[in-house]
Amino acid sequence: MMDLTWHQHSLSRAERAELKHQHPCLLWFTGLSGSGKSTIANALDVALHQRGYHTFLLDGDNVRHGLNRDLGFSDEDRVENIRRVGEVSKLFTDAGLIVLSAFISPFESDRRMVRNLFPAGEFVEVFMSTPLEVCESRDPKGLYQKARAGEIADFTGIHSPYETPEHPELSLDTSRLSVDECVAQLVGYLQTRRLILERSQ
Ligand code: ADX
Repeated sequence: MMDLTWHQHSLSRAERAELKHQHPCLLWFTGLSGSGKSTIANALDVALHQRGYHTFLLDGDNVRHGLNRDLGFSDEDRVENIRRVGEVSKLFTDAGLIVLSAFISPFESDRRMVRNLFPAGEFVEVFMSTPLEVCESRDPKGLYQKARAGEIADFTGIHSPYETPEHPELSLDTSRLSVDECVAQLVGYLQTRRLILERSQ
């Protein structure tokens, strides 16, 4: 980039993380609207917080009220949405936090771009594999109904594509698993990969 110099900060990413006694990482929840991304990310956030971990939750609906309120749902805007959220997620992990991000993120190339911002093993792709029929029957915000009626354009799964992740670290289908079972699988994964260690607090 032109005329810009990268400032090397005195405090490293590792030092910030060490003070929090944790290993920062990004849990990236991807899936259709209504697949359970926000619900499971929120429940995991609470579970980790209760165990004494420092976390932060980023969610499509909320981020689109602020930072990304200038973006819509064209392919181009979704690419920019994920690019910004990836960078913000990276900043929060640099600050030493365990970050949970819940975005439809329909395109494989964008998810790969975010993955490539992170050291190996610190990007955990969580595919919410709940089938479209189930998401549509839940329709928690009434958006599928509006999309079918032609009142919303470019709705993911109806007239905008969702590219299924090929190699997610975890797949969770909330039509088969309860919230507690999903959280247990996620916590188990983080422990197995030693991204979280048992702590006394
Ligand atoms: S993404 O595709 O760019 O990753 P993001 O996760 O930020 O999407 O936002 C999705 C949320 O926006 C949905 O949960 C839904 O509430 C709302 N929404 C509004 N219009 C659309 C649309 N056309 N397609 C998908 N979601 C939409």
